[in-house]
Amino acid sequence: MAGKRIAILTGGGDAPGMNAVIRIVVRTALSYGLEPWAVYRGYHGLIRGEMELLNSRSVSGIIQRGGTILKSVRSEQFRTKKGQLAAVEQLRKNEIDALLVIGGNGSFAGALALEKMGVRVICIPATIDNDIACTDYCIGFDTAVNTVMGALNKIRDTASSHDRVYVVEVMGRDSGAIALYAGLAGGADVILMPEVPYNVKAVSAQIQAANAEGKTYNIIVVAEGVKPISGVRGEESPALQIGRYIREKTGFDTRITILGHIQRGGAPTARDGLLACKLAHHAVELVYQGKSGKMLGEVDQVVKTFDLSYALAQEKQLNQDYHRLASILPSI
Ligand code: F6P
Repeated sequence: MAGKRIAILTGGGDAPGMNAVIRIVVRTALSYGLEPWAVYRGYHGLIRGEMELLNSRSVSGIIQRGGTILKSVRSEQFRTKKGQLAAVEQLRKNEIDALLVIGGNGSFAGALALEKMGVRVICIPATIDNDIACTDYCIGFDTAVNTVMGALNKIRDTASSHDRVYVVEVMGRDSGAIALYAGLAGGADVILMPEVPYNVKAVSAQIQAANAEGKTYNIIVVAEGVKPISGVRGEESPALQIGRYIREKTGFDTRITILGHIQRGGAPTARDGLLACKLAHHAVELVYQGKSGKMLGEVDQVVKTFDLSYALAQEKQLNQDYHRLASILPSI
C-alpha cells in the first residue's frame, strides 16, 4: 500500500502518551512509504476538513509532552448521521485510505460508525479512565495513577499533621480504575468505586473504629462515578456529600479535595511511553496490511488485535486481584 494516505486523529479527553503515539505513527508510516496526515480537533475537525500532511519533523520534541498536538474536541455534530456523512466526504475528498483513531470508548464508537460507512479504521486505546475492554492498560492511565498517587502522598503529609480525614475525589467517569490503582499504591484507608456498592454509614464506622484504636488521620479515595448519597447524579460531587456526612457523623475535622484535570496532564510515565510505542507501531503495520475495523490492546504484556465491534461490546472488568486487595488491606 506504499504511497497511500493514513490520517490520524485524537478524540475525547486527552491522555498523557497521545503525543508519543502520534510521533511513532508518523515515523512508522513514513518508513512504510505511507503519507501521514493530521486531523485536528478530532471528529469535529474531520467534519470541517482540518487536515494537513505531516513529516518526521512535525513530531519532533513531543514525546514527553502531555496533551495532544492534534487537539481534541467532544463533537456533538459527529453523533448525527449528517455529521458522519460529512466526515466520510472529507476523507474521500482528501483521498485518505485509512483513519487511525487514538482515544476512548466514544471515539471508538465513532470509528465503528465510519467503518460501517466504508472507511478503513484502526483504533488505539488512550484514556486515563482505563475503561476499554480487551486491553489491560489504556495509554495515559498509568500516568494518571502516578499523578494521583503523588497527590495522595502530599495529602498524607498534611492529613497527618492536622489529624484530619481527607476525602479525595478522582476521575474515571464510570470506572473506578484510577481510584483502585492509586488508592492501593497510595495507601488509602477506604477506596470507593462505582463498580462496588458502598454504605456511607459503614465507611463512617470504619473511620471511627480506626480512630478508637489510635489512628489519627484517614484518606478516603472516591471515584467521581460512585453513586452520590442523595442518589441524584450530577447534582453535587459524591466526595462533597460523603465528606459532609463523615464530618457530621464523626465530628472529625474533614477536608474534601477534588483532584480534577491535573489527572489528565503531564509527561507520560515509562509504562505509558512504552505502550504508546508498541501499539502505535503495530497499528501502522495493520494499516499497511490492509486491515480495518480493529482495535489494538495489550493483554499480559502481549500486543493483541481485536475486532472493534467485539471490543466495544465487552464490559471492562476491574482488576480482580487489586479489587480483592482493596477490600482486605485497609482493614488490616
Ligand atoms: O474521559 C476522561 C475524563 O477525564 C473523565 O475521567 C472525566 O469524567 C471526563 O473526561 C471529564 O471530561 P471534560 O474534560 O470534558 O470535563
